[in-house]
Amino acid sequence: MSKVIIFTGAGISAQSGISTFRDSGGLWEQYRIEDICTAGCLETNRQETIEFYDKRREDIKDKKPNYAHKQIKLLQDKYPNSIKLITQNVDDMFEKAGCVDVLHLHGFLKNVVCPKCGYKHNIGYSSLKSFQENCPRCNCLLRPDIVFFGESAPKYIELYRYLESCELLVIIGTSGYVIDVNHLSSYATKTILNNLEPSDAIDEKKISKVIYKKATDAIDEIVCDIDNFLKGNLETLV
Ligand code: APR
Repeated sequence: MSKVIIFTGAGISAQSGISTFRDSGGLWEQYRIEDICTAGCLETNRQETIEFYDKRREDIKDKKPNYAHKQIKLLQDKYPNSIKLITQNVDDMFEKAGCVDVLHLHGFLKNVVCPKCGYKHNIGYSSLKSFQENCPRCNCLLRPDIVFFGESAPKYIELYRYLESCELLVIIGTSGYVIDVNHLSSYATKTILNNLEPSDAIDEKKISKVIYKKATDAIDEIVCDIDNFLKGNLETLV
Protein backbone atom coordinates (compact mmCIF):
# COMPACT_ATOMS: atom_id res chain seq x y z
CA MET A 1 0.00 0.00 0.00
CA SER A 2 1.11 3.61 -0.58
CA LYS A 3 3.29 5.36 1.99
CA VAL A 4 2.24 8.79 0.69
CA ILE A 5 -1.28 10.10 0.13
CA ILE A 6 -1.83 13.29 -1.84
CA PHE A 7 -5.28 14.50 -0.73
CA THR A 8 -6.75 17.44 -2.67
CA GLY A 9 -9.70 19.77 -2.78
CA ALA A 10 -11.06 22.50 -5.03
CA GLY A 11 -8.06 24.75 -4.39
CA ILE A 12 -5.75 22.68 -6.59
CA SER A 13 -8.04 23.32 -9.58
CA ALA A 14 -8.57 27.02 -8.85
CA GLN A 15 -5.68 28.05 -11.10
CA SER A 16 -7.18 26.01 -13.91
CA GLY A 17 -10.13 28.39 -13.77
CA ILE A 18 -12.48 26.06 -11.87
CA SER A 19 -14.41 27.70 -9.01
CA THR A 20 -13.81 26.59 -5.45
CA PHE A 21 -16.79 26.35 -3.10
CA ARG A 22 -16.15 28.53 -0.04
CA ASP A 23 -13.65 31.13 -1.20
CA SER A 24 -15.06 34.57 -1.97
CA GLY A 25 -16.96 34.22 -5.23
CA GLY A 26 -17.08 30.45 -4.80
CA LEU A 27 -19.90 28.22 -6.01
CA TRP A 28 -21.77 28.25 -2.72
CA GLU A 29 -22.04 32.04 -2.92
CA GLN A 30 -23.80 31.72 -6.28
CA TYR A 31 -26.06 28.73 -5.63
CA ARG A 32 -28.06 27.39 -2.66
CA ILE A 33 -26.62 24.01 -1.65
CA GLU A 34 -30.08 22.87 -0.60
CA ASP A 35 -31.38 23.46 -4.14
CA ILE A 36 -28.79 21.55 -6.16
CA CYS A 37 -26.47 19.55 -3.93
CA THR A 38 -28.50 18.04 -1.10
CA ALA A 39 -30.15 14.61 -0.80
CA GLY A 40 -33.63 14.80 -2.33
CA CYS A 41 -32.95 17.74 -4.65
CA LEU A 42 -33.42 15.52 -7.71
CA GLU A 43 -36.93 14.72 -6.53
CA THR A 44 -37.88 18.29 -5.59
CA ASN A 45 -35.79 20.31 -8.06
CA ARG A 46 -34.63 17.95 -10.81
CA GLN A 47 -34.43 20.36 -13.74
CA GLU A 48 -32.31 23.00 -11.96
CA THR A 49 -30.09 20.30 -10.46
CA ILE A 50 -29.46 18.58 -13.81
CA GLU A 51 -28.83 21.96 -15.48
CA PHE A 52 -26.32 22.91 -12.74
CA TYR A 53 -24.20 19.80 -13.33
CA ASP A 54 -24.62 19.98 -17.12
CA LYS A 55 -23.17 23.52 -16.92
CA ARG A 56 -20.27 22.48 -14.66
CA ARG A 57 -19.56 19.53 -16.96
CA GLU A 58 -19.52 21.78 -20.02
CA ASP A 59 -17.42 24.32 -18.10
CA ILE A 60 -14.51 21.91 -17.53
CA LYS A 61 -14.35 20.89 -21.22
CA ASP A 62 -11.80 23.58 -22.13
CA LYS A 63 -10.11 23.81 -18.73
CA LYS A 64 -6.50 22.70 -18.60
CA PRO A 65 -4.55 21.02 -15.81
CA ASN A 66 -2.18 23.48 -14.12
CA TYR A 67 1.45 23.09 -13.06
CA ALA A 68 0.45 21.47 -9.77
CA HIS A 69 -1.58 18.73 -11.50
CA LYS A 70 1.30 18.12 -13.92
CA GLN A 71 3.94 17.88 -11.18
CA ILE A 72 1.78 15.35 -9.36
CA LYS A 73 1.55 13.30 -12.54
CA LEU A 74 5.36 13.27 -12.74
CA LEU A 75 5.47 12.14 -9.09
CA GLN A 76 3.08 9.29 -9.92
CA ASP A 77 5.36 8.26 -12.80
CA LYS A 78 8.43 8.34 -10.55
CA TYR A 79 6.83 6.52 -7.60
CA PRO A 80 4.08 4.33 -9.10
CA ASN A 81 3.72 2.17 -5.98
CA SER A 82 4.32 4.73 -3.23
CA ILE A 83 1.84 7.52 -3.85
CA LYS A 84 -1.99 7.39 -3.79
CA LEU A 85 -3.85 10.34 -5.30
CA ILE A 86 -7.19 11.03 -3.60
CA THR A 87 -9.41 14.01 -4.38
CA GLN A 88 -12.68 15.58 -3.30
CA ASN A 89 -12.84 17.18 -6.75
CA VAL A 90 -15.21 16.02 -9.45
CA ASP A 91 -13.32 17.63 -12.34
CA ASP A 92 -10.96 15.74 -14.69
CA MET A 93 -7.84 17.90 -14.35
CA PHE A 94 -5.75 15.05 -12.94
CA GLU A 95 -6.91 12.75 -15.72
CA LYS A 96 -6.11 15.43 -18.33
CA ALA A 97 -2.63 15.73 -16.78
CA GLY A 98 -2.18 11.98 -17.31
CA CYS A 99 -2.64 10.87 -13.70
CA VAL A 100 -3.99 7.36 -13.15
CA ASP A 101 -6.05 5.61 -10.49
CA VAL A 102 -7.39 8.88 -9.08
CA LEU A 103 -9.79 8.20 -6.20
CA HIS A 104 -12.68 10.68 -6.55
CA LEU A 105 -14.44 10.70 -3.18
CA HIS A 106 -17.38 12.89 -4.19
CA GLY A 107 -18.03 11.56 -7.70
CA PHE A 108 -16.94 12.52 -11.20
CA LEU A 109 -18.66 15.17 -13.33
CA LYS A 110 -18.27 13.27 -16.63
CA ASN A 111 -20.20 10.24 -15.37
CA VAL A 112 -23.93 9.73 -15.08
CA VAL A 113 -25.27 6.89 -12.94
CA CYS A 114 -28.49 4.97 -12.37
CA PRO A 115 -29.48 5.26 -8.71
CA LYS A 116 -31.43 2.00 -8.99
CA CYS A 117 -29.18 -0.51 -10.78
CA GLY A 118 -25.81 1.25 -10.61
CA TYR A 119 -25.34 1.56 -14.39
CA LYS A 120 -22.64 4.18 -14.97
CA HIS A 121 -21.62 5.88 -18.23
CA ASN A 122 -19.03 8.53 -19.10
CA ILE A 123 -20.89 11.11 -21.20
CA GLY A 124 -17.85 13.33 -21.61
CA TYR A 125 -18.76 17.03 -21.47
CA SER A 126 -22.25 16.71 -22.93
CA SER A 127 -25.57 17.25 -21.19
CA LEU A 128 -27.52 14.42 -19.61
CA LYS A 129 -30.44 15.19 -21.95
CA SER A 130 -28.22 14.85 -25.05
CA PHE A 131 -27.20 11.41 -23.79
CA GLN A 132 -30.50 10.08 -22.46
CA GLU A 133 -32.63 10.68 -19.39
CA ASN A 134 -33.41 7.06 -18.61
CA CYS A 135 -31.21 4.10 -17.72
CA PRO A 136 -30.81 1.75 -20.72
CA ARG A 137 -30.90 -1.21 -18.33
CA CYS A 138 -33.80 -0.52 -16.00
CA ASN A 139 -35.34 2.68 -17.38
CA CYS A 140 -34.96 4.55 -14.06
CA LEU A 141 -34.07 8.25 -14.38
CA LEU A 142 -30.30 8.72 -14.59
CA ARG A 143 -28.49 11.28 -12.38
CA PRO A 144 -25.10 13.00 -12.18
CA ASP A 145 -22.46 10.78 -10.52
CA ILE A 146 -22.01 13.30 -7.70
CA VAL A 147 -22.33 12.73 -3.94
CA PHE A 148 -24.79 15.29 -2.55
CA PHE A 149 -24.77 16.49 1.05
CA GLY A 150 -26.71 14.01 3.17
CA GLU A 151 -25.99 11.10 0.82
CA SER A 152 -23.65 8.21 1.55
CA ALA A 153 -20.09 8.52 0.17
CA PRO A 154 -19.02 4.90 -0.36
CA LYS A 155 -15.50 5.82 -1.52
CA TYR A 156 -14.67 7.02 2.02
CA ILE A 157 -14.15 3.35 2.91
CA GLU A 158 -11.28 3.29 0.40
CA LEU A 159 -9.89 6.56 1.79
CA TYR A 160 -9.60 5.06 5.27
CA ARG A 161 -8.14 1.84 3.87
CA TYR A 162 -5.33 3.85 2.25
CA LEU A 163 -4.83 5.88 5.43
CA GLU A 164 -3.98 2.68 7.32
CA SER A 165 -0.60 2.54 5.51
CA CYS A 166 -0.08 6.29 5.07
CA GLU A 167 3.12 7.75 6.53
CA LEU A 168 3.11 11.13 4.78
CA LEU A 169 -0.20 12.92 4.13
CA VAL A 170 -0.01 15.84 1.70
CA ILE A 171 -3.14 18.05 1.73
CA ILE A 172 -3.58 20.57 -1.07
CA GLY A 173 -6.42 23.04 -1.56
CA THR A 174 -9.15 22.06 0.89
CA SER A 175 -10.79 24.08 3.66
CA GLY A 176 -11.48 20.92 5.67
CA TYR A 177 -15.15 21.76 6.21
CA VAL A 178 -16.44 18.51 4.72
CA ILE A 179 -13.66 15.99 5.37
CA ASP A 180 -11.83 16.63 8.66
CA VAL A 181 -8.21 16.83 7.55
CA ASN A 182 -7.04 17.02 11.17
CA HIS A 183 -8.55 13.59 11.72
CA LEU A 184 -6.94 12.35 8.50
CA SER A 185 -3.56 13.69 9.66
CA SER A 186 -3.80 11.62 12.87
CA TYR A 187 -3.14 8.52 10.71
CA ALA A 188 0.14 9.82 9.25
CA THR A 189 3.62 10.29 10.73
CA LYS A 190 3.99 13.61 8.93
CA THR A 191 1.50 16.00 7.27
CA ILE A 192 1.99 18.83 4.80
CA LEU A 193 -0.84 21.36 4.26
CA ASN A 194 -0.96 23.74 1.31
CA ASN A 195 -3.78 26.27 1.19
CA LEU A 196 -4.06 29.96 0.34
CA GLU A 197 -4.86 30.95 3.91
CA PRO A 198 -5.74 29.45 7.32
CA SER A 199 -9.09 27.68 7.66
CA ASP A 200 -11.19 27.69 10.84
CA ALA A 201 -11.73 23.96 10.23
CA ILE A 202 -8.02 23.09 10.34
CA ASP A 203 -5.85 23.08 13.51
CA GLU A 204 -2.36 23.91 12.20
CA LYS A 205 -0.79 22.58 15.42
CA LYS A 206 -1.59 19.07 14.15
CA ILE A 207 0.19 19.68 10.85
CA SER A 208 3.97 19.11 10.40
CA LYS A 209 4.44 21.73 7.67
CA VAL A 210 2.07 24.47 6.44
CA ILE A 211 2.52 26.33 3.15
CA TYR A 212 0.17 29.24 2.44
CA LYS A 213 0.76 29.81 -1.25
CA LYS A 214 -0.94 29.05 -4.54
CA ALA A 215 -0.57 25.34 -5.28
CA THR A 216 1.43 26.07 -8.43
CA ASP A 217 3.92 28.07 -6.32
CA ALA A 218 4.02 25.49 -3.51
CA ILE A 219 4.18 22.28 -5.55
CA ASP A 220 7.94 22.28 -6.24
CA GLU A 221 8.64 22.46 -2.50
CA ILE A 222 6.06 19.73 -1.88
CA VAL A 223 7.61 17.50 -4.56
CA CYS A 224 11.01 17.99 -2.95
CA ASP A 225 9.60 17.05 0.47
CA ILE A 226 7.96 13.91 -0.95
CA ASP A 227 11.19 12.96 -2.75
CA ASN A 228 13.18 13.38 0.47
CA PHE A 229 10.59 11.53 2.53
CA LEU A 230 10.60 8.53 0.21
CA LYS A 231 14.43 8.55 0.31
CA GLY A 232 14.30 8.47 4.11
CA ASN A 233 15.35 12.08 4.67
CA LEU A 234 12.83 13.73 7.00
CA GLU A 235 14.87 16.90 7.66
CA THR A 236 12.83 19.13 5.34
CA LEU A 237 9.69 18.12 7.20
CA VAL A 238 10.62 19.34 10.68
N1 APR B 1 -3.80 27.03 -4.24
C1 APR B 1 -3.91 26.37 -3.06
N2 APR B 1 -5.02 26.41 -2.28
C2 APR B 1 -6.05 27.15 -2.74
C3 APR B 1 -6.01 27.89 -3.95
C4 APR B 1 -4.81 27.80 -4.71
N3 APR B 1 -4.66 28.45 -5.87
N4 APR B 1 -7.19 28.54 -4.09
C5 APR B 1 -7.94 28.22 -3.02
N5 APR B 1 -7.26 27.41 -2.20
C6 APR B 1 -7.69 26.79 -0.95
C7 APR B 1 -8.44 27.73 -0.05
O1 APR B 1 -7.53 28.33 0.87
C8 APR B 1 -9.42 26.79 0.66
O2 APR B 1 -8.82 26.31 1.86
O3 APR B 1 -8.58 25.76 -1.30
C9 APR B 1 -9.59 25.61 -0.30
C10 APR B 1 -10.93 25.55 -0.97
O4 APR B 1 -11.88 25.22 0.01
P1 APR B 1 -13.38 24.86 -0.45
O5 APR B 1 -13.83 25.88 -1.43
O6 APR B 1 -14.15 24.63 0.81
O7 APR B 1 -13.26 23.50 -1.27
P2 APR B 1 -13.12 22.03 -0.69
O8 APR B 1 -12.38 22.04 0.63
O9 APR B 1 -12.52 21.19 -1.77
O10 APR B 1 -14.65 21.57 -0.45
C11 APR B 1 -14.82 20.24 0.01
O11 APR B 1 -17.22 20.57 -0.14
O12 APR B 1 -18.93 21.51 -1.33
C12 APR B 1 -18.30 20.31 -1.02
O13 APR B 1 -18.24 18.33 -2.29
C13 APR B 1 -17.75 19.64 -2.25
O14 APR B 1 -15.68 18.42 -2.49
C14 APR B 1 -16.25 19.63 -2.01
C15 APR B 1 -16.14 19.73 -0.49
